Amino acid sequence: DSAGVALTAPGMERVAVRKKAGRLANLVQDIERDPMPDATVGIGHTRWATNGVPNDTNAHPHTSRDGKVAIIHNGIIENASQLRLDLQTEGYRFVSETDTEVAAKLLGKISDKIIEETGKPDLFKAVRRLARMLEGAFTILATDVRQPDIVVGARHDSPLVVGLGEGENFLGSDVAAFVAYTKRAMEIDQDQAVMVSADKVVVSDFMGNIVPDPKTYTVDWDASAAEKGGWDSFMDKEIHEDPAAVQRTLLGRLDENGNINLDEVRIDEHDFKAIDKIIVIACGTAAYAGMVAKYAIEHWVRIPVEVELAHEFRYRDPILTPRTLVVAISQSGETMDTLMALRHAREQGSKVLAICNTQGASIPRESDAVLYTHAGPEVAVASTKAFVAQITAAYVLGLYLAQVKGAMYRDEIAQTLESLKDMPRKIQWVLDTQTKTVQEAAEQMVDAKSFLFLGRHVGYPVAMEGALKLKEIAYVHSEAYPAGELKHGPISLIEEETLVVALATVEKLFDKTMANVREDKARGAHVLGVTTEDFAGEIEKYADRSLIVPKAHPLLQPSLTVIPLQAFAYYIALARGCDVDMPRNLAKSVTVE
Ligand code: AGP
Repeated sequence: DSAGVALTAPGMERVAVRKKAGRLANLVQDIERDPMPDATVGIGHTRWATNGVPNDTNAHPHTSRDGKVAIIHNGIIENASQLRLDLQTEGYRFVSETDTEVAAKLLGKISDKIIEETGKPDLFKAVRRLARMLEGAFTILATDVRQPDIVVGARHDSPLVVGLGEGENFLGSDVAAFVAYTKRAMEIDQDQAVMVSADKVVVSDFMGNIVPDPKTYTVDWDASAAEKGGWDSFMDKEIHEDPAAVQRTLLGRLDENGNINLDEVRIDEHDFKAIDKIIVIACGTAAYAGMVAKYAIEHWVRIPVEVELAHEFRYRDPILTPRTLVVAISQSGETMDTLMALRHAREQGSKVLAICNTQGASIPRESDAVLYTHAGPEVAVASTKAFVAQITAAYVLGLYLAQVKGAMYRDEIAQTLESLKDMPRKIQWVLDTQTKTVQEAAEQMVDAKSFLFLGRHVGYPVAMEGALKLKEIAYVHSEAYPAGELKHGPISLIEEETLVVALATVEKLFDKTMANVREDKARGAHVLGVTTEDFAGEIEKYADRSLIVPKAHPLLQPSLTVIPLQAFAYYIALARGCDVDMPRNLAKSVTVE
């Protein structure tokens, strides 16, 4: 909702700051019109408002009283009001409503104190002192005109990663920020500070103890993967990457002895065997992937699986034992709600396995085992390829647990993996044959005020995902229900021309779902049906329009059923003139609670 930069170079009296409300393009245009000075270091920020409305003043960076120090900040500083009052009594004035300005003024004060004490500036020390005084979640980056060759960062609960270049170094919330310049990255752990210059990176804890050997890794995708590459939008590109996302997530999972492999396992076989319950924690789309996992894992492994929104789980005293496996699903690996829930689960003695799309992110780092979804970077706010990759990974996990616990025969596991390997081809078929019909349906329904998505069995979480996509990017009210639930209340919403999207891809429940569709039609609903090839003729008798997906094992069907729904939301949003990649009010990675 706003963006800004601060630049520092030798000889500057004050940090050069420029910030603008609105899209990043506003800031870019402003700087092109009125260029900023050359600099040796810089910090830049895009804001998602937490404290104070999105305007030029509240945008980051914020500066110290004398303008010599500037900071940018992600997170929420919970003791900002008290710190602000303390500073106000000392005569400090504030121009913005943000917690970040409080931290900036305080950092200026600490920096001056250090100069008084030692005779020279020490931004690294000042940032560490500041970090020890702040409560809440933060990643802070700071620059000081008196040390124009360094940037200093500190993190507590919010993400921060270093990019290691040649004669230049970078800091970002995510590797995507610098992958165009370097693929070598360094992890910054919880409660660590880092000082970066063109040729040096020093990491310490908040007390100043140097971390001798910070972990480094190489990013396994190219900058081009995070570019539009000829597509009109990232969302369209990423929907078309659904087949590859599934394929890559399955790659190399089966070794020569027929055993399934996860990426990182710090749980011993004995503990895995002892698991008697699974709780999936996740938010949004990732939670719907968890709901799909429940159906498959309970069927294959015969242990109960609960799915819980991470922000609810954390605060309700869930029953956790060392025999509970908590599965944290997250595309970004930085969702604060999921991270906090994961920490809670580990504190209670449960093991945590992460299903994550981002190498080196906080969630996989803090988990006992990791299964990466190799979907490649997902840029559009609406999750698409990550969802199909997440359910694929959840299937792999289910089969892995079945293998460890001996709940399925080896050939049965291998056979199911084989069916999974056929999914990319089937998804491609949906994209190739159904897109035109989806687009026409979307154009016909573009003015609808409200949608009702119905599904049964594994179709229910897919219905939830279809409804979320539509809300998120097309700003249309949409709800999802298990089709059988309609008669218990929501059917009263149906009137002439209400739009119903009915998912009937679970073969054994086709007739029951059609009975529900007839009930809706009898009350005037307009129905878009989704079914498998075998029922293509049947569904035409009930639905006004229909979309077809190939038939698969019933538990694997969600990977196919969701594809036309992703495309449907995309085309409705497009026809309504919405920004499909960056919907209003949303951030790709939600790093606040
Ligand atoms: C999906 O379209 C949403 N943008 C959102 O619900 C997302 O899935 C959720 O915030 C969880 O994100 P994560 O997978 O990065 O943890």
